[in-house]
Amino acid sequence: MRIFSGIQPTGEKHLGNYIGAIRQYVEGQDRADPAIYCIVDLHAITVPFDPAELRQRVYDTAAVLLASGLEPDRCVLFRQSDVYEHTELCWLLSTVCAHGDLNRMHQFKEKSARQRELVSAGLFFYPVLQAADVLAYRAEEVPVGEDQRQHVELMRELARRFNERFGDVLVEPELRVPEVAARVMDLQEPERKMSTTVGSDSGRVYLLDDPGAIRKKFGSAVTDSGREVRRDPEKAGITNLIGIMAVATGRGEDEVEAEFADSGYGDFKKAVGEAVADYLAPVREAYPAIREDEEGLERVLSEGADRAREMASVTLADARRAMGLGPA
Ligand code: AMP
Ligand code: TRP
Repeated sequence: MRIFSGIQPTGEKHLGNYIGAIRQYVEGQDRADPAIYCIVDLHAITVPFDPAELRQRVYDTAAVLLASGLEPDRCVLFRQSDVYEHTELCWLLSTVCAHGDLNRMHQFKEKSARQRELVSAGLFFYPVLQAADVLAYRAEEVPVGEDQRQHVELMRELARRFNERFGDVLVEPELRVPEVAARVMDLQEPERKMSTTVGSDSGRVYLLDDPGAIRKKFGSAVTDSGREVRRDPEKAGITNLIGIMAVATGRGEDEVEAEFADSGYGDFKKAVGEAVADYLAPVREAYPAIREDEEGLERVLSEGADRAREMASVTLADARRAMGLGPA
């Protein structure tokens, strides 16, 4: 079974990325043949960016993934722009994608509303490129956070439409979101997801934050005027912390509620801060040495790209043939 996922090389990676996506990538290495993970620099250029910084951010992201437990001989890790098949398949798929489908994408609506200068056509096309990323590998499973559900539904739809029109070439992939904490919320505004671009630093926990900063952010997390540690739609802050605590300590949410049934919010927040500081310690400690070795990172990415290209070029040859492109 093939697994594919992508992650943007923008900003510093946070606890939402880790819980929603990265820990699933690590686990996927054992199940998949192969697990394919892509740093999507072509997606990152759909909003304003700095070229020199982009290259550095790709290394930052690769180093975070390796520090989190991806191993180059157990998965394929590569940079999207190294494999041209993605952009070509994006174009082929655009012909079976309705303009109206893209107009309905939540992420496009949110991101375009935030753009001050230019809402690029690339931003509009973002979900088609994302579909190409996955479909180029005939991947069966896509591990992501809950916010990517609509994008995965669209890629399934595009695969179906392509196959109906041109024959059985593409594979319809399944969404895989974590059972607990698939949507980690901002610590300061728990009605909103933790995000790289929206909200303040105190609302998001970076994977590389030192333990003191992590404790402080949880200590000042926004909760509610009640006192019971239990999940409730009216208690977004506490519900979020229960999910995070469950993941960080490898327990169920029920167990977490039971343990803290007699605690006040203050003690609970303190315990979550401690647990997350411990949970992220291995990543934080492994990161600096990995990040420092840019040649090593470049080697991992280019070897990954060679393996990725080998797989993607087979699908592209089939797709071209099915569409009547090129010589017979
Ligand atoms: P990005 O950094 O936007 O490329 O996101 C990388 C991965 O992290 C995607 O699979 C997202 O679904 C996931 N993700 C981002 N934010 C969150 C969040 N607040 N909670 C859970 N998963 C998230
Ligand atoms: N759009 C995804 C995000 O913002 C990143 C992404 C790009 C992706 N291509 C992908 C995720 C393919 C899964 C599969 O997080």
